[in-house]
Amino acid sequence: MCRSRAFPPEETGLSTQGKLFLRALSGETCERPPFWLMRQAGRYLPEYRATRAQAGSFLDLCYNPELAVEVTLQPLRRYGMDAAILFSDILVVPHALGQKLDYLEGEGPKLDPVRSAGELNRLSGAHLRERLAPVYETVRRLSSAIPETTALIGFAGSPWTVAAYMVEGGGSKEFAQVKSWAYRDPAGFGALIDLVVDATAEHLGAQIEAGAEAVQLFDSWAGVLPAPEFRRWVIEPTRRIVARLKERHPGVPVIGFPRQAGVLYADYAVEAGVDALGLDTAVPVDWAALALQTKLPVQGNLDPLMLVAGGEALASAAREILTKLSGGPFVFNLGHGVVQHTPPEHVGQLAALIRAWPTLSA
Ligand code: CP3
Repeated sequence: MCRSRAFPPEETGLSTQGKLFLRALSGETCERPPFWLMRQAGRYLPEYRATRAQAGSFLDLCYNPELAVEVTLQPLRRYGMDAAILFSDILVVPHALGQKLDYLEGEGPKLDPVRSAGELNRLSGAHLRERLAPVYETVRRLSSAIPETTALIGFAGSPWTVAAYMVEGGGSKEFAQVKSWAYRDPAGFGALIDLVVDATAEHLGAQIEAGAEAVQLFDSWAGVLPAPEFRRWVIEPTRRIVARLKERHPGVPVIGFPRQAGVLYADYAVEAGVDALGLDTAVPVDWAALALQTKLPVQGNLDPLMLVAGGEALASAAREILTKLSGGPFVFNLGHGVVQHTPPEHVGQLAALIRAWPTLSA
């Protein structure tokens, strides 16, 4: 049973179904921290590589409900995470808006870039639900396929990060195109953000209607903006999406993951309207316990490379996080996604350590 409750459900209004993961997000300090791992389904698992080969391309896999369900379940079968995350990608939203998208082997995503307000007429949200119907079908099938105690997470990218891919045309080191557009022409860039805000709220709403019990907004590139622009392009659009979701689905928790936001995590925590904070690897856990977990439940933040290292390095890094954060509402996770060359047995080592935590800490 729960030891204490930092934020009573009467206050948060979040539903839990008795599931450990949802209880932590509603503000409970749980008997053992629930856990899941960002990118828990993926190329480090041989069974993922086999299903991926069967599907053809990565996008074919994302739009094939039968195979997308299969890869979502693969890590749960091995490690029994407390939450399953829908297998999909943040870039299905620009794809559904009409942007050309390909994943090139070894190079990551490539999009046909949008670089001015004049080019926005190439994009439209009018067919979003139809185009993403296979994703919602995957969610529907998952909600009956996962174990009873496991929660189902839906997700989307945050507008800033999705817009960065849309404008750069893929990954980037300096974000020169997207930043120069946002700084030079905030009104024009704001029109792109508005389009993505609407599409994201629609996409997350549809996932919730199909059975997602919590949603996470991935803002992988939140940390590259100066503070005023962080407020404008990270916090504000997130706040609008959360407000829209809360009108219709007040009981469904929203986790915000403004990666590498540094001290701006503290502003995001109180202004974005999210119910929980995903912490990246660089956030010091002592500071998080004092400055963030006193406001919202937190999730994170083991360095994914500790999972590559394994052994004593992995064990002591995981124990440090558990010691500092499991005294409040907390979900154990990584600070970013599982990397491709992670030995699957190290994930097993971590899962066993988290599951034994009450014994270890007694
Ligand atoms: O976490 C999960 O298990 C659910 C599935 C998931 C994927 N991508 C599958 C995926 C989730 C939640 C994402 C989010 C995502 N996608 C983000 C935000 C998180 C982050 O990593 O910062 C971003 C930025 C993307 C965009 C994206 N998709 C990139 C940059 C790449 C290429 C990099 C890479 O690892 O290849 C992808 C492809 C992708 N998305 C893969 C997977 C399993 C690998 C594709 C393959 O099988 O070839």
